[in-house]
Amino acid sequence: MLKNDLLLRALRHEDVKRPPVWMMRQAGRYLPEYIAFRNKYDFFTRVETPELACAITLQPVDILGVDAAIIFSDILVVPKAMGMTVLMEEGKGPSLPNTIKTQKDIDLLNEHDIVSRLSYVLDALKLTKHELNDRVPLIGFAGAPFTLLCYMVEGKGGKGFDKAKAFCFTQPELASMLLEKITQATIQYLIGQAKAGADVLQVFDSWSGLLAPADFDLFAAPYLIKIADAVAPYAPVILFPKGSNYALCSLSQYQNVSGIGLDWTIKPADARRDTQHRVALQGNFDPSKLMMQPNEIRREVHAMIDDFGVNGYIANLGHGITPSIPVRHAKAFVDAVKEYSLNSEA
Ligand code: CP3
Repeated sequence: MLKNDLLLRALRHEDVKRPPVWMMRQAGRYLPEYIAFRNKYDFFTRVETPELACAITLQPVDILGVDAAIIFSDILVVPKAMGMTVLMEEGKGPSLPNTIKTQKDIDLLNEHDIVSRLSYVLDALKLTKHELNDRVPLIGFAGAPFTLLCYMVEGKGGKGFDKAKAFCFTQPELASMLLEKITQATIQYLIGQAKAGADVLQVFDSWSGLLAPADFDLFAAPYLIKIADAVAPYAPVILFPKGSNYALCSLSQYQNVSGIGLDWTIKPADARRDTQHRVALQGNFDPSKLMMQPNEIRREVHAMIDDFGVNGYIANLGHGITPSIPVRHAKAFVDAVKEYSLNSEA
């Protein structure tokens, strides 16, 4: 039995005294303890060694006191397990030198037995679940098919992913074939994560907001829903279609979607209006605001919780925390959420 099940209660819309809090990319370069591992082991060694991934996952739980752990891994482990070369260059971000261009490239991707090639993630989850000793829930995750397509076709991170979008618009049959393959791999992978101990599953569609609403309905939504339908019997699912505010109303209609993550470009009241408590909402503090002074962070966080309401809400950032944030400020964010009930009763 979990000692702190606030996250699961929020996803079920049960009454809580305060919302749960965790931070996207909470295990990362703003923590000196993470940098210590980074100085010793390269990125994929950290990800592929269960003992290292476990130790890194626990850091923010111990240091910040967040209400959930998220397994230390990356969305790009899936393209790697499907056979693509994925490099993580220090200071430059990911690079996939052999991009997907043709039908043949897609045919070569192997979505079968994906779970066996990702067994290191499952081992990391099992170990972390054990080490957590039921202190807080453990979140597993994967990249959404459209976001993974962006990296697989573009070959690197970017602002607009023009090449990847042009691939979708000019070769929609190839795009749907690729998205379908990624979807099948992701379903197997997420079910494997739940079986290995993940209590909640989040699907990161970090780049879906680059799509117009009609294109989101073609290239993102069907695959997100397919994944949610397949994995919901195993664990509650949070979708994070970053920037796709236009999709909130429709995505929230699906029974198998338990939560939706938001970035800071939407007012809490508008998100509630569009979703009507059919799903829990997660977000949406602008991570750049963590540069403000702790007392200001505290005020802003309390205003954010006032706006979302306490039930069916998961306090989080609107995107990942960045390396320049002082740990003291990250802690102020977490503490501000944790003291909320005391504050509002005063
Ligand atoms: O949230 C967590 O604490 C778990 C860890 C986690 C990482 N990546 C570790 C990581 C998670 C959930 C991810 C997801 C991820 N990876 C996403 C979706 C979320 C988002 O931010 O939009 C995306 C798009 C990626 C792809 C990726 N991985 C990029 C673009 C980069 C480089 C940018 C950067 O921050 O450096 C990575 C590398 C990466 N993944 C790092 C970490 C901690 C930093 C590299 C390092 O520490 O050496």
